[in-house]
Amino acid sequence: MRDVAKGYTGETRFPFILQNIHRYFFWLSLVILVFLWWDAILAFRFPDGVGIGVGTLVLLLNAALLTLYSISCHSCRHLCGGHLDAFHTRPAKYSLWRTISRLNERHMLFAWISLIWVGLTDVYVRLLSMGVIRDLRFF
Ligand code: FES
Repeated sequence: MRDVAKGYTGETRFPFILQNIHRYFFWLSLVILVFLWWDAILAFRFPDGVGIGVGTLVLLLNAALLTLYSISCHSCRHLCGGHLDAFHTRPAKYSLWRTISRLNERHMLFAWISLIWVGLTDVYVRLLSMGVIRDLRFF
């Protein structure tokens, strides 16, 4: 017994073929994540040395949430083992795939949280750059 409708063609025809485009954006998101993590690392630098401020935590959380969102994507799950027909010869891939699959179950939650946090991060950085607020430094 089939578990899909008879005429179902998956992502091979319009409009669902457009769904495939998002798989390529996963690679682009990895480039953006590198920049975000670099920014988060730079946020530890202050004119008088290394420290941690609210901005540091804001940028760290921003990079972490967007990383969670990205690695919980179906494209990442596919790359990490979803493309394999059998796992019995690839235990490491299986373990990775299982981890990504668990994250994938919360993908929508990560999407919303990271979306909201990106907005708040942008506002925080903008207000800092305009001199409206000052970054509270912990040490
Ligand atoms: S961004 Fe890939 S499934 Fe949501």
